[in-house]
Amino acid sequence: MESIATSTVQSTTVDFLPLLGTDYVEFYVGNAKQAAHFYKTAFGFQSLAYAGPETGVKDRASYAVRQNKLTFVFTTALRTDNPIADHVYKHGDGVKVLALKVKDATDAWKQTTERGGKSYMKPQRLTDEFGEVVISGIHTYGDTVHLFIERENYSGAFLPGYRKWESHYNPTDTGLLYVDHCVGNVGWNQMNPWVKFYEDVMGFKNILSFDDNDISTEYSALMSKVMSNGNGFVKFPINEPAEGKKKSQVEEYLDFYNGEGCQHVALATNDIVKTVTDLQNRGVEFLKVPTTYYDDLLDRVGHIDEDLNPLRELGILVDRDDEGYLLQIFTKPVEDRPTLFFEIIQRKGAKSFGKGNFKALFEAIEREQSDRGNL
Ligand code: FE2
Repeated sequence: MESIATSTVQSTTVDFLPLLGTDYVEFYVGNAKQAAHFYKTAFGFQSLAYAGPETGVKDRASYAVRQNKLTFVFTTALRTDNPIADHVYKHGDGVKVLALKVKDATDAWKQTTERGGKSYMKPQRLTDEFGEVVISGIHTYGDTVHLFIERENYSGAFLPGYRKWESHYNPTDTGLLYVDHCVGNVGWNQMNPWVKFYEDVMGFKNILSFDDNDISTEYSALMSKVMSNGNGFVKFPINEPAEGKKKSQVEEYLDFYNGEGCQHVALATNDIVKTVTDLQNRGVEFLKVPTTYYDDLLDRVGHIDEDLNPLRELGILVDRDDEGYLLQIFTKPVEDRPTLFFEIIQRKGAKSFGKGNFKALFEAIEREQSDRGNL
């Protein structure tokens, strides 16, 4: 059984930033039309809403897609002289916005900026015939931002400025349900300052910590701390590289993303075997661990409900903590740069992040890193 440094989240103080969950994740990309098509085809998202010149937005095109409680937005610049174009030039395709649903976006902005958060967007009221949305935002690591979305009085498809996107092409969903957590990669010695940011500015708690003894292979290492908001709906692990014999995977990310940014978004499912079978059939590529991983798996994690064979065939990993177990698998990066990837996760009681899989997983990542000549 693994030993994890856990600090209990105390709810004795009032949560000054109550969050209702993740509202959406927005990606700045080189070609939003094609990105939206990829996420519909490969991941099973449905067309939701569109904004662009036809809806009065002149500098960009945005496509919102949805699957259950997951909403992704793909945005591209229409001209060169534009901060979205600058973002894509610097980082490649990546996550720009981690948007959080709140009851009061004005208060969220006030509370966080008073505590030292750097404003990205003052509270603004957007209206159309479907009602009103209030949006505000602050900066976080790198060029990434958090937007606070207040949408109780809105009944439109997505946001004012967007129109409903009806498509004749509607691939079936793959059982992806909601964002489980989003991981940020930050620079050398920057993990603790960002932990402090989430504590001080957003009222999060550090619920788990991993040092380089937990997360190291023969070659490289990283450190990680998991930050959670008061109700546990929003979890942001923060990674930084650690010294090893060779280049850490976090360093490779920082090199190719040109700075700090979102490393992976974990998507929850209630049936990981079905979801991953479906994703693989649609062309999504996953990291593979050696099949020897499965030889002593049940000795390590004890009884699990699933048959071992499909897990072995698909490459799904299993880990157990004091509260239950979890099943997880990681895609390869979804761009040509070795930057953003996705995790598919099914929790069966476990609230942790798969520490028992770190070594096998990071060795798999390093084989890929070595193939790219970056280890
Ligand atoms: Fe993860």
